Parts: sequence; structure tokens; C-alpha cells
Amino acid sequence: MRILVTGGAGFIGSNFIRHMLSARQDCRILNLDALTYAGNLENLSDVSQDPRYEFVRGDIADPEDVGRCFSGSLDAVINFAAESHVDRSIEDSAAFIRTNVTGVQVLLEAARKQGVKRFVQVSTDEVYGSLGPQGRFRETTALAPNSPYAASKAAADLLVRSYHITHQMDVVTTRCSNNYGPYQFPEKLIPLMILNAVESRPLPVYGDGLYTRDWIHVEDHCRALELVLEKGRAGAVYNIGGDREEQNLQVVRRILQAVGRSEELIQYVQDRPGHDRRYAIDASLIRSELSWRPRVPFEEGLQQTVRWYQSHSQWVQGVRSGDYVNYYRRMYEKRGETLSALKKPATAQGTAGQGSRQG
Ligand code: NAD
Ligand code: DAU
Repeated sequence: MRILVTGGAGFIGSNFIRHMLSARQDCRILNLDALTYAGNLENLSDVSQDPRYEFVRGDIADPEDVGRCFSGSLDAVINFAAESHVDRSIEDSAAFIRTNVTGVQVLLEAARKQGVKRFVQVSTDEVYGSLGPQGRFRETTALAPNSPYAASKAAADLLVRSYHITHQMDVVTTRCSNNYGPYQFPEKLIPLMILNAVESRPLPVYGDGLYTRDWIHVEDHCRALELVLEKGRAGAVYNIGGDREEQNLQVVRRILQAVGRSEELIQYVQDRPGHDRRYAIDASLIRSELSWRPRVPFEEGLQQTVRWYQSHSQWVQGVRSGDYVNYYRRMYEKRGETLSALKKPATAQGTAGQGSRQG
């Protein structure tokens, strides 16, 4: 089986490549990634010498780059490549439209022309918008994206659908809830809070902190994607979720406990505009059709993830070089975080329990 994985140097894509190479001897992978701020070849350093794995740097929105990857025969394309962070899409949505919409159109055209057997689009539960206190997203829930990121992903889902209806292409779309685990870029809630807690810096909680997400370990997501790739029904959409709803404050408290820091480090900051209140996934379709279920209990997965970040300080240093410090200051100073001590991490003893006074 020869697969083109796009966006394989990011968080979920790199976990997926590692998963497939270890689960499937017959698998050969070509990874096309533009290496944006979120793409990092260090995420794949352990498999880079595997003869079944090959990396090509390129942009999914550039037909020439994509064309180069479609020259040999391909059994499937699985598209992870995306601009993936909601807060960045609120600042500037241009890159989101280029990669998440145009990029998907370019990939679909190439796959159609080359007669690729299967196209898997890795989408998100954010396309459904926000839930009230009750109910869960089903595959039939109307699309109602609220952020530019979610809107760009919903646009891609509709393009994928149209290639199935119009061109009879074999496509499958997955919509997963919030992932956590190793190699996640520390702009997302869990890794950002772990690193801030470890360094006794403030943990910036948006709004009242009572927003709910449905957490899934990245390894459970990767197992679901392997099944979808092989056995998913052409034209289907599958929701994927960990069946584990937690309010952000609960997650942050668990992290503080795991790291051994005081809750006084929690700092409430300005809310995200258009912030979706609650996500919850009904994954009964993939459970019944493909016999998938999540295996990693949240408490265990979170502990493992905390330990992973604590023991990978070089990786952390690498991803925080470059523009990360500027991003952090820009994003959190405007929200009213009073401590932006990224360049000057406090000692664990110095500020634990004092909150936020470094200026
Ligand atoms: P990520 O931001 O960690 O990685 C994205 C990857 O795409 C990076 O390696 C980046 O270099 C690459 N990329 C960006 N623009 C590109 C372009 N134009 N051409 C080629 N490569 C490009 O994202 P992630 O969290 O791993 O998410 C992967 C996919 O899963 C995304 O499509 C996202 O929408 C979806 N998703 C994510 C989550 C989550 O919780 N993280 C949940 C559900 C769905
Ligand atoms: O649901 C799937 C989606 O999950 C994916 O499609 C996205 O790519 C992924 O980024 C994620 O989106 P969220 O916006 O839910 O994730 P994020 O980690 O940015 O935020 C999770 C929650 O935590 C959300 O309610 C906002 C809040 N938050 C986030 C950050 C970064 C904070 O309170 N403080 C923060 O500093």
C-alpha cells in the first residue's frame, strides 16, 4: 500500500505516520509538507531512515508541488495539511483559505486526474459549530462553523463531498474532536498549559473557563484513521471522539496537579471572539461500522503527555525558537496576561503559587 500523507510533519500527521509504519509492514509513505511554523521534521526523526518513508517539502496549494507527488502510483491520499489554530485564524484568515480550501481543491484535482483509489480528508468537529448543554454532534448535524478556521474546514468538506457526487471519487471525511498527546505544538490548550505549569508561569484561561471540549488521545485518532483508510465506506463522513467531555478549567486543574503546582497560577484572560461553548461527539457510526472505540483513558493519557513534555526539553526548545515568543506575546498580552516571561522562565520555586508578577 503506497500512501501520500500531506501535513505529515505536524502533530497528528507525524503520529499517524509513526503508527502506520509500526502497524503495517506493507505500507510505504510519502509525506508532503510545507514545514510551516507547525511542521517539524524532528517529530519524525525516529522514522526518517526507514526505507518505507520519504519526505518531500511542498505546498498542497501549489499544483506543481502536488503534481510531483502524484507521479508514481498511489493507493490513497490522506490529507492532514492545514492551518489548524483557531486564534491564528481570528488574527488573519488568508493562509487558512489558501491551505485549507485551495489546497484541498488542488489535491482533489490531482487525485481525480491520477485515478487515486481513495482520498481521506481529515476534518474536525468544529464544522458543526457550538452545542448547548445537551446533545452531541452526529454526522447529519448541520454545518454551522463559527471561526474562520472552522469555516475553511467546512468549505473543504463540501468540496470533498462534491467530488464524490460529481466525479464519483472514492472519498471519506472524518470529523474528530480535540486531540492531545506527544508532539503537539504548544499553542494548543494542553501543551501550552503543561509548559507554563512546568515553568510556573500563568495559565491563561479564556473567559470563565467553562467551555467544554471532547478529548481524544492522538493514538486513538490514528487507529480510527487507519480503519477509515482501509475499510471506510466511499462517500461517508465519520465522527471520531474520545467520549470524554471536560471543561477547560478541569483540564487545567488536572495539569497543575500532575505537575505539582498551585491553582493560583490560573489567570483568567480575555475570551476568544466567537468562542464555541461546547463540543461533544456521537461516534456511534464508526463504532458500529468499523468496530473502533477509543482505548486511552483521559487521566492516563494526560499523565503520559505531561511526562512526555517534561522529558523532551530539547524538542520544546526547538519548537519555541523562531517566531513562537513573538506569537505568545502578541496573543496573550492583548488578552491581558500580566506575565509574558517566555524568555525568562521563572524557577519552579520562585513563583509557584504566586500567580503572575514578572511583567
Ligand atoms: P498541525 O498544525 O500540528 O500540523 C499541520 C501540518 O500541515 C504542519 O506540518 C504544516 O507544516 C502542514 N502544512 C500547513 N500548510 C501546508 C501547506 N500549504 N502545504 C503542505 N503542508 C502544510 O495540525 P494538527 O493538529 O496535526 O491537525 C492535522 C489535521 O487534523 C488538520 O487538518 C486539522 O484541521 C485536523 N484536526 C485537528 C484536530 C486537533 O485537535 N489538533 C482535531 C480534529 C481535526
Ligand atoms: O475540536 C477539534 C479542534 O480542536 C481542531 O479542529 C483544531 O485544529 C484544534 O486546534 C482544536 O481547536 P480548539 O480551539 O478547541 O483548541 P485549543 O487548544 O485552541 O483550545 C481548547 C479550548 O481551550 C478552547 O475552549 C479555548 C481554550 N483555551 C485555549 C488556549 C490556547 C484557553 O482557555 N486558553 C488558551 O491559552
